[in-house]
Amino acid sequence: SLYVQPVVKQFHPLVPSRDPSLANLKLPPNFKWGLASSAYQIEGAAKDEGKGPSIWDLLSHRVPNSVSDNTTGDVVGSHYWLYKQDYARLKNLGIKAFSPSISWPRIFPFGKGPINEAGVAHYDDVISELHKNSIMPAVTLFHWDTPLALYNEYGAWSSPQIVDDFFNYAKFIISRYDEYVDEWFTINEPQYCNWQFSYYPSGEYYPTYNSTEPVKSRFLCGHYTLLAHAKVAKWYHEEFKGKGRITFKNSGNYYEANSTKPGDEVARQRNFDFAIGWFGGPWTDGDYPTSLKDTLGDLLPTLTTEEKIMIKGSCDFYAIDGYSSFMAFEVDGGLEACVSNRSAPGFPDCAGSVSTASNGFPLGPAADPAMNWLYSTPDGIRKFLKHLTVLFPSIPDIVVTEFGFAEPFESQISNMNQILWDLRRADYFQNYLDSILASIHYDKVNVTGAWGWAIFDNFEWASGTSVRFGLQYVNYTSLERTPKASMFQILNWFREHEAGG
Ligand code: NOJ
Repeated sequence: SLYVQPVVKQFHPLVPSRDPSLANLKLPPNFKWGLASSAYQIEGAAKDEGKGPSIWDLLSHRVPNSVSDNTTGDVVGSHYWLYKQDYARLKNLGIKAFSPSISWPRIFPFGKGPINEAGVAHYDDVISELHKNSIMPAVTLFHWDTPLALYNEYGAWSSPQIVDDFFNYAKFIISRYDEYVDEWFTINEPQYCNWQFSYYPSGEYYPTYNSTEPVKSRFLCGHYTLLAHAKVAKWYHEEFKGKGRITFKNSGNYYEANSTKPGDEVARQRNFDFAIGWFGGPWTDGDYPTSLKDTLGDLLPTLTTEEKIMIKGSCDFYAIDGYSSFMAFEVDGGLEACVSNRSAPGFPDCAGSVSTASNGFPLGPAADPAMNWLYSTPDGIRKFLKHLTVLFPSIPDIVVTEFGFAEPFESQISNMNQILWDLRRADYFQNYLDSILASIHYDKVNVTGAWGWAIFDNFEWASGTSVRFGLQYVNYTSLERTPKASMFQILNWFREHEAGG
């Protein structure tokens, strides 16, 4: 049955701003904001209407310890079936933009070859329904649900064959929806190419994954990810000249040196190089950062002249998913320790490990070891945005493509009041958005958009449904959605600060 939230006339923010100087400041006109999520995390319907399996169907069903609470994305919020009411609710809340991802194995069940018409018809209707509700879509083409068939055939992102298969899929989608979509994200967080979308956390690797050389495998899949993105972007720029914009979504945290010791500053820089420069360098400068090349030697693939030309300038703006901030410090053993750290599956950065957050309180560790990167440091984003303009002076503008917060133990709370009065999440959003506004006005950083994560509680990968990032609570039995206080906090914030508001 269709339950639609009534039109909301008034929002009462529960958490005050900490910076009264921002009270009357406005966002620039045309600032885009909305909520986001991704296909596998919200759609459910995993085996329905001709969808092929993705690597996450395999991980969640068949690979022990991949998902800490043993849940799967089979049903989750069932957005595949409930999208109409989800968009009606967004509209009534006054939300004018949504960033979904499209499931590649719904379109090409085998990753390539025959098209699944039911899947195409579904997304046709999703796009038209968003349009009818005046909700602007910004679409991610690939958010980690690698078609299992490609993984079985050639190891997916560990092989150069992925470049053309991704290109064909992307071309199909962009050509079909370009009239309605003018903001495209090719790939979500390529930094996780050899973890979230390529191998079994249990250590049971695809044969071409070289488990004795995890560092090499990691940078190789990063390489193909970059090439896959660039090939699509090049085609898009030629085909649709200036009609819309395309980029990929970076994952990144802000790092501060733990002390004035030179080693700590080096650790800070190296963290940025490895997490941010790895992908940002090639598209702004045409090559990997020198420090990556020096540190990694032949563990880092070389970009050919032709590839450099294709990658440079392949993004129309810088997209950053920025959640937390950390202190960086030198670890004993310097580079040695750095290389062995990176051998740990999924370890994103190099040198200098991380300590507790600056100005924040830890959230993840208490809730779930898989979330030990999550600290609430909303003011870190202001420093981060500024630092991005220092790292990449040539980038035109920045969009914060994800920001969000998960409360420890939220999944174990049975008292609905506590769930819906999510004051710490409301506080996070208030102060995070204040920081973006301060960055625009006081630091003159050209931030042109922000996407809150997530539209509603969803499947948090290795943490399953036990970690809830939603601005709406999802009852996973009845599938009912209920806005949390943080939803009204964010809506009120935009109402106060939107240009003309
Ligand atoms: C970034 C990822 O893109 C998204 O899928 C995930 O749910 C959030 N971070 C929170 O961890």
